[in-house]
Amino acid sequence: MGRSCLSIILAAGEGTRMKSARTKVLHEIAGLPMVRHVARAALATGSDRVALVVGRDGEAVAASVRADAPQAAAFKQTERLGTGHAVLAAREAIAEGFDDILVLFGDTPLIRPQTLKRARAALIAGAELCVVGFRPKDPTGYGRLIEQAGELVAIREEKDASDAERAIDFCNAGVMAFRGESALEMLQAIGNANAKGEYYLTDLVEIARKAGRSVKAIEAEAYEVAGVDNREKLAAVEADWQAARRAKAMRDGATLQDPASVFFAFDTEIEPDVTIEPSVVFGPGVTIASGAVIHAFCHIEGTSIGPGVQVGPFARLRPGTRLEDGSKVGNFCEVKNARVSTGAKVNHLTYIGDASIGAQTNIGAGTITCNYDGALKHETIIGAGSFIGSNTALVAPVRVGDGAYVGTGSVITEDVPDGALAIARERQVTKEGRGRQIIERNAAAKAAKKPGTA
Ligand code: UD1
Repeated sequence: MGRSCLSIILAAGEGTRMKSARTKVLHEIAGLPMVRHVARAALATGSDRVALVVGRDGEAVAASVRADAPQAAAFKQTERLGTGHAVLAAREAIAEGFDDILVLFGDTPLIRPQTLKRARAALIAGAELCVVGFRPKDPTGYGRLIEQAGELVAIREEKDASDAERAIDFCNAGVMAFRGESALEMLQAIGNANAKGEYYLTDLVEIARKAGRSVKAIEAEAYEVAGVDNREKLAAVEADWQAARRAKAMRDGATLQDPASVFFAFDTEIEPDVTIEPSVVFGPGVTIASGAVIHAFCHIEGTSIGPGVQVGPFARLRPGTRLEDGSKVGNFCEVKNARVSTGAKVNHLTYIGDASIGAQTNIGAGTITCNYDGALKHETIIGAGSFIGSNTALVAPVRVGDGAYVGTGSVITEDVPDGALAIARERQVTKEGRGRQIIERNAAAKAAKKPGTA
């Protein structure tokens, strides 16, 4: 856009209705704190700077947002005297001089960058101020937007509104854009002579109008300006986010057999021609390449899934997992911090942690990498084209070479060279006729027991 922009995110809310030790804006949607969703939307509109207005847990909120906006500044609002007062807490940032200023709420996480861009576009077109409005199913409690001849003339808070004004269904979402040049002067003109005795940011509308400036309202979708102040609303916003993400995944070429039971994270990346069966949950940090199939009932986080990979059903993939082309992690397997190379198979009831498995290697059912000695984690390295027999325990640190064969039921504590056979279990003992003797002895003992004497 070529214009400088400061985004002020109001995040001083106590969030007491969340009934939580954690401050409200740090509660997550799709695995990302709400306030980070807002910061990311601000950055996506080309915002140069982010200023946070914080209360309780200000440091934690700032640290969270700095993952996206490393230069984000935090300003403490010690007393909650209204949204106008909150914005002025960031006075120092405003005074640096920006072309555009966006005000966002940290508890309204689904705001879309394109809506913010439309608000900024209204400033470019000559408006002093542009307010984002929406039409909620129930307008009770919201400030009403009063328009005349294409101009926004006032925002009336519920408590200050007349009956006729309360009948208006176009409401203030709270988000607004205004010109940086005159911002401080206008913000300082806000008073608190209203029903709540608060400094209302919304008074900017009338202040700008009195100065003869143009004020516009744009309409956003109701879902994107939904605020969260309790756990039910948190769940409702999560549901909206998930519905939108599922729809996008399908538009982009993924097959979701039961979309409603698939949960994505904010950063899940899915290529076309991926199939996801029912009841799959993605935590943060997952990428899935074309042709991969995620069978039912999987929990996957921090994992890269290569082309044509098969996962599950009932697989748990934890951070640091890399499944390369055509590899397979089957039912009731857990993989953590491990590379499963091209064409390798980990098919049944297995734990692979802190390990590397070479190409085309087959890991038998019930294999466990014993990576933890009670104090430290150790690595297991298995070469390419090897075979690990079922129910093997690989006691790390340990290496198995290329083309090696490990006998079923082994406890491997020493390295196995390339091409070697390793068997680490008791030899079988077979006693001719002894089996039948035991069966007959036990049957006789059972027959000797009289009914009712058990
Ligand atoms: C505000 C708007 C109202 C709009 C509604 C949308 C004003 C005066 N009213 O209502 O027109 O329909 O949002 O949800 O702006 N906050 C602070 N410090 C404060 C006060 C608020 O940081 O002193 C933050 C809150 O944490 C919240 C946001 O500002 O994120 C909105 O505050 P809230 O009290 O929910 O808004 P209302 O005044 O009800």
